[in-house]
Amino acid sequence: MNVLGIETSCDETAAAVVRDGRKILSNVVASSLKEHQRYGGVIPEVASRRQLEYIQPVVDEALEKAGLSLKEIDAVAVTKGPGLIGSLLVGISFARALSAALDKPLVEIDHIKAHVYANFLADEQPRLPAVGLVVSGGHTDLYSVRDIQTFRRIGKTRDDAAGEAFDKVARVLGLGYPGGPVIDRLAKSVPGTEITFKYAALEGTLDFSFSGVKTAVLYHRQKYGNNNHYPVAEVARAFQESVVAILVIKALRACRKLDVRTLLVGGGVAANSALRQHLSAQAKEAGVKVYFPAMALCMDNAAMIAGLGFHSLN
Ligand code: KG4
Ligand code: ZN
Repeated sequence: MNVLGIETSCDETAAAVVRDGRKILSNVVASSLKEHQRYGGVIPEVASRRQLEYIQPVVDEALEKAGLSLKEIDAVAVTKGPGLIGSLLVGISFARALSAALDKPLVEIDHIKAHVYANFLADEQPRLPAVGLVVSGGHTDLYSVRDIQTFRRIGKTRDDAAGEAFDKVARVLGLGYPGGPVIDRLAKSVPGTEITFKYAALEGTLDFSFSGVKTAVLYHRQKYGNNNHYPVAEVARAFQESVVAILVIKALRACRKLDVRTLLVGGGVAANSALRQHLSAQAKEAGVKVYFPAMALCMDNAAMIAGLGFHSLN
């Protein structure tokens, strides 16, 4: 069964065709990111206008790359939320109209569950039940994943999302938007650092808080920033180490608490090299099998929507 997926929750306009929930026939992503960069964050009004412009050509390209005509699409899946309302509406309206015109079923998919599902777009199928760790620009959540449709949230951020903290810290350090990839790269450029930023342990819960570490970087910059040799890369590394440490601690604690041996990571921050490295090593020691999606499937994309869409059809 060929499912056409559509994802327009933020600044990406994405369409993909996935066969039987697993085989990616095409995966196209256009983005208005460059237009938002000078503002240091996504401007919703600009994002939704671009969604309107991009949606048709992106869907056309996804069909063309898959080598399929519209008639060969068996169902349409679209992101219903969470996300920017104006952007979401473009995808949802387009998908509804297409499904009606083709007389094919439409399924509306939760963006967060789809980030976790990205781990199933691979040859090896993870075993459930699992713990899901979603780390993106808008969310940092832990889930108990009983089966691919049944999620229960067991932890959340109380303030900033992990990706949002990366973006805000990058701004403080004058590194531009989005912050994750550049902090990741800079952190790798130094072998280590004496600088440390404490993480918020929030003992006794599986919740997170990242506003403290973000503010600590801001104060550090204010205090020492006039120095011509301000160690930006070391600060980036120390910040990243703090965020990664608490993500690893809480994700593995959740596995222990629920007594599960599978950990599924998803969202933009799942692309972070330090998180991938540390979580893989420590999960192994804890006897937990950790999965990360392929890099392109960590960021917002429509293959994860089409994939989960297949399982939501019955
Ligand atoms: O999942 P995503 O593409 O969009 C949302 O649903 O939010 O995640 C975007 C977030 C941004 O905050 C970006 O800075 C972060 O993911 N990100 C990273 C990396 N690549 C992207 N954070 C840390 N390290 C990275 N390599
Ligand atoms: Zn996302």
